[in-house]
Amino acid sequence: MRERGREGIRPNIMNTLYCGDNLEVMRTLPEGSVDLIYLDPPFFSNRQYNVIWGDEAEKRSFEDRWEGGIESYISWMQDRLFEMRRILKETGSIYLHCDWHATHRLRVLMDDIFGEKNFRNEIIWHYRKWPTGKYQFQRNHDTILFYSKDNKNILNILYNPISERTLKRWKGAKQKAIFDKTGKRYARSEDKKTPGVPMDDVWDISIINASSKERWGYPTQKPEKLLERIILASSNEGDLVMDPFCGCGTTIAVAENLKRRWLGIEISYTACELMNQRLKTDCHAAEDSFEIIGMPTTIDDAKKLQPFDFQNWILRKCHAYASKRKTGDKGIDGFSFLHKYPIQVKQSEKIGRNVVDNFKSALDRKGGKTGFIVAFSFGSGAIGETARLNREEDYDIELVTVKQVLDGHTLTRTTVTSEK
Ligand SMILES: C[S@@+](CC[C@H](N)C(=O)[O-])C[C@H]1O[C@@H](n2cnc3c(N)ncnc32)[C@H](O)[C@@H]1O
Repeated sequence: MRERGREGIRPNIMNTLYCGDNLEVMRTLPEGSVDLIYLDPPFFSNRQYNVIWGDEAEKRSFEDRWEGGIESYISWMQDRLFEMRRILKETGSIYLHCDWHATHRLRVLMDDIFGEKNFRNEIIWHYRKWPTGKYQFQRNHDTILFYSKDNKNILNILYNPISERTLKRWKGAKQKAIFDKTGKRYARSEDKKTPGVPMDDVWDISIINASSKERWGYPTQKPEKLLERIILASSNEGDLVMDPFCGCGTTIAVAENLKRRWLGIEISYTACELMNQRLKTDCHAAEDSFEIIGMPTTIDDAKKLQPFDFQNWILRKCHAYASKRKTGDKGIDGFSFLHKYPIQVKQSEKIGRNVVDNFKSALDRKGGKTGFIVAFSFGSGAIGETARLNREEDYDIELVTVKQVLDGHTLTRTTVTSEK
């Protein structure tokens, strides 16, 4: 895997993951270059997700909250769907995943952008969950709007297995409908074996359960089986599949496994890191078989990151790991790799003395004296108090700037104190 910074965004048709806003990235992609697009955008659901994954219980939150209500959501989606239509090939297809919050509005929008005549299916993905509905029936499905760019789209018909009863009756042979003189229809068996029952537009696929091996801890992670159907139906080996809202990368992982080329876009740095791991561990993708573009590399990039992404980015740069207890471990965001010294990460300039006071209390609670605070810069109050604590109270607190981290400064101590 090659990693390039944000200065390097360029149209690229090898397996590529772009870390950035999909609108910006898609504007750089050539017209008519993609065979299949699957998108699972944040829903108009007015909920805030807390995402926890990984051994170190990394956590991030993303909001799919729309201040201007559904109108602003629809106009945000419209800009992106226009770009998707432009970069889709004439033989291409697009599958838009949504749920009851905005299906009705997105269907109208898709008709406007792709044309009513290019509407193919409204696929119902049906699953089971714990019953919760009190005033309505349980909501147990998502909707996937399937459109093509034109009427030349690739479609590989998929089949469901036939029932035991039919199998027994027809001995696995394909059936043909024949009509008598009165127009009455009969089934007759053919010499060929039946491939099964052609799949319809209602798909029963389980959601990913808590103990599933497939699970990466992303609450909106979709099952691989769902993506397998879409990719097998609307692309062939070697075709280019794009997911502009990658999340933890289900589409690109399945595309990789099914020998499609892929292109993913995701705004969250932490999710991009996760996909990097997923591609290597679940798909055994070779290091040089894909590229990640747009990962933060400069101070300016770091300033633009969401707070949770910033924290993860700093910790990764320092070879440290995130604290498991995000809210309980007040003042401690992670621990240094070797000696597990506490680290606090602040995405601010000129941090004040209060930050040092809080960090000292956090160290006291842990029963230790050594730790690091990382920030863009430190005010004189923070510098003075740290010097005093180190000199008079035997603490060993180091204030580290983001620039130092970028220059390769490591968060270690040569003399190790015994700390919990
Ligand atoms: C519903 S999740 C996708 C989940 C994914 N299908 C999976 O199986 O993991 C939507 C994702 O879109 C990302 N996102 C939101 N706005 C974006 C934007 N403007 N550009 C790129 N990604 C964006 C979010 O960070 C989130 O990870």
